[in-house]
Amino acid sequence: MGVSLNQLCSPIDAALAELETALLGYVKNDIPLIEEVASYVVRNGGKRLRPILTLLSAQVCGVRPFGAMSYACAIEYIHTASLLHDDVIDNAALRRGKPSANARWGNAVSVLVGDFFYCRASEILVKAGNLEVLALVSSAITRTTEGEVFEISKSHDFSLSEADYLKIIYAKTAVLMGASTETGAAMAGLPEKERQALRCYGENLGMAFQLADDILDYVSDDHQFGKENGIDLKEGRLTLPLIYTRDAVSEDERSELKTLFHAKTLAPLASSHKLLADV
Ligand code: FPP
Ligand code: MG
Repeated sequence: MGVSLNQLCSPIDAALAELETALLGYVKNDIPLIEEVASYVVRNGGKRLRPILTLLSAQVCGVRPFGAMSYACAIEYIHTASLLHDDVIDNAALRRGKPSANARWGNAVSVLVGDFFYCRASEILVKAGNLEVLALVSSAITRTTEGEVFEISKSHDFSLSEADYLKIIYAKTAVLMGASTETGAAMAGLPEKERQALRCYGENLGMAFQLADDILDYVSDDHQFGKENGIDLKEGRLTLPLIYTRDAVSEDERSELKTLFHAKTLAPLASSHKLLADV
């Protein structure tokens, strides 16, 4: 029997409650539109997986979870900023079951509030004062952005290799999860071997998370997923389900699949051979 996220979080329950207060506290602002959009996004927050990883890794390394609060907050804000930008890039209408910020307030406001979250995260990290953590989180943000740009540079490319796909998801998703877990070890001043072990754990979880996300984009319904499905195809992104299908089918089917990929729909397959379901 699997362990639920709630059970895993029981050692940091009190810190997690405090995290919600802190996340809302840092978005108080004299500009009403910033506070309105930012608090909408925070209140509609997901599983808080990255701050959970930071608080748990701190605890595992002997640092009180409350001592890691500002880092947990900053990492969640960085993730939030990246999703605000990503939803503009992907033209996404839904996020976590509610209208996305870009759908409600438009792209300009969404990008700028994303910048606000990113800059607040920088302020929090600088104030917290641990240069090691600042360095590892900053380089994770650089890698995340590189991953997103690499993904865009490969969009509409039907020949994308599995290796390049893995490179994309490693950079855009796994690296920040790795930074979330490594933060606890860095705060505790542990040597590189321990830091690396925690970083790898977070990165592997991040890879699994993005693989699942990319499968759900094909097989879940919007209601269950909390965001529209089929976005990857609509945006010309080749992900693992389609890569495996492409590599498993006959030459003729591949050519048909390529035509459908560029037409951004697999609907004609639903009634004929159901390629994706077969593979
Ligand atoms: C979601 O991918 C997007 C990411 C994991 C990373 C987005 C990163 C950036 C926009 C660059 C970094 C920017 C800042 C401000 C730090 P997805 O579209 O596959 O997932 P989804 O289905 O949840 O939208
Ligand atoms: Mg997206």
